Amino acid sequence: MDLRDTIRTYRLFSGSYDIVFGPVFHPGRKEAVRIANDRPGQRLLEVGVGTGLSLPYFRRDSRVTGIDISAEMLEKARGRVERQHLAQVEALQVMDAEHLDFEDNSFDAVLALYVASVVPSPARFAAEMRRVCIPGGTIVLVNHFTSDQWALRFMERRLAHLARHIGFHADFPLDAFVRESGLTVREIRPSNLFGYWRLLRCINEKPASTFC
Ligand SMILES: C[S@@+](CC[C@H](N)C(=O)[O-])C[C@H]1O[C@@H](n2cnc3c(N)ncnc32)[C@H](O)[C@@H]1O
Repeated sequence: MDLRDTIRTYRLFSGSYDIVFGPVFHPGRKEAVRIANDRPGQRLLEVGVGTGLSLPYFRRDSRVTGIDISAEMLEKARGRVERQHLAQVEALQVMDAEHLDFEDNSFDAVLALYVASVVPSPARFAAEMRRVCIPGGTIVLVNHFTSDQWALRFMERRLAHLARHIGFHADFPLDAFVRESGLTVREIRPSNLFGYWRLLRCINEKPASTFC
């Protein structure tokens, strides 16, 4: 999977993204923010913040940074922050999730909503989230993983090759992701329509592995 494909896909898609991926994915966004942003004064990072659909759910007394590889998606997020006066949003920056430009232990909590399966290396992406999150901090992910149902799984595997060219892993098994990410998963909840997505609540227990 090539990052250039991802950038092109989201450049083309930024205008219609909120219509297609808006309300139907709000339950996962709301729940993830509620879990991660559970105290006043927290500093939080959202990786792959996109058009900022989750940003209104963060507490007003927190400081939120959002990063994304797509300048066009972030432009939409900036518009949302301005229109809705989201003072909790401290910064929105173009950045690669696999090479975060933040010091170790910079954030109390880190979130990634519908992003794990669109990055080229989910293991490196997870290692970066762990590195910038404080020890004992919360990491929350929401994503679609390969289905348990054989018919859907069959379709996902057939689609995998095509999907790679528009920037996502259609065949994305949960157990392999958990193993390779090194994340300490405390809870897995079904999320969104038919529970077809999963919310992973993780504690940043382990020191980040030295990926290079
Ligand atoms: C499916 S969208 C999810 C957006 C948002 N989190 C939401 O809830 O709607 C995936 C986002 O991840 C971003 N993305 C993909 N690869 C990335 C990378 N390597 N680094 C940073 N952002 C990335 C895309 O540009 C896109 O905005």
